Amino acid sequence: MSVTAKMDERILKKMRLDWDNRAKENAQHYVQNEKSEWDRRDFFRSGEINVANEVMTDMVAICGGQRSPLDLRMLEIGCGVGRMTRMLSRIFGHVTGVDISEEMIRQARENTADLPNVDLVLGDGCTLAGLPDASYDFAFSFIVFQHIPAYSVMASYCRDVFRVLKPRGLFKFQVQGYTELTRNDLDTWLGHPVSADEAERLAGESGFAMEREKGAGSQWYWLWFRKV
Ligand SMILES: C[S@@+](CC[C@H](N)C(=O)[O-])C[C@H]1O[C@@H](n2cnc3c(N)ncnc32)[C@H](O)[C@@H]1O
Repeated sequence: MSVTAKMDERILKKMRLDWDNRAKENAQHYVQNEKSEWDRRDFFRSGEINVANEVMTDMVAICGGQRSPLDLRMLEIGCGVGRMTRMLSRIFGHVTGVDISEEMIRQARENTADLPNVDLVLGDGCTLAGLPDASYDFAFSFIVFQHIPAYSVMASYCRDVFRVLKPRGLFKFQVQGYTELTRNDLDTWLGHPVSADEAERLAGESGFAMEREKGAGSQWYWLWFRKV
């Protein structure tokens, strides 16, 4: 039985439908909801700032102090319309962006058409099916897991990120850590908040070592999982 068949189909369908509808209505707003209408330059500038703050500050952990990022292959889970992907492609040798929404991927293709080192994949919402084993140096995800409504989906992603990372590869991602949220099990906006215990479980169950964590209890709960 495939992983997606075992996963709650209602959750996968709901995530895809909701994100496709959001993308059709106003993709830039739902990707970065600071503004309802974005100027294109400001929208991509916001992605550049997030990359500067959340990726460039971790270059030693990503490159191991030995390698150029231009020699590395990275994976972005939940790439949206390519807001951060554009800047990531200027830093890394190759970027693969995965997203559950066909419309997000369609817009991301338009927005990255000039970037030969980017490829974009429509995903199933819980695995990295189709991506080869041990083929990425770094995996990253920002403002994506905070929307995922079920721990089981996150656990499935962590297992597959472990599979596609090379040995010593790093997975840095942000989850919702504010566990007091009122939500329902199919809420694809508020998602499932992750406690510190669940974060430990996510790492342990997928084979990762938790290298670092920051922001437990807040929306900006960052996890650094290392494939050792
Ligand atoms: C708030 S947007 C952020 C996009 C991008 N990370 C950025 O910062 O510009 C969330 C994105 O995650 C995608 N997404 C939501 N659930 C997902 C899932 N289970 N698997 C893959 N992508 C997902 C949505 O389609 C959307 O493009």
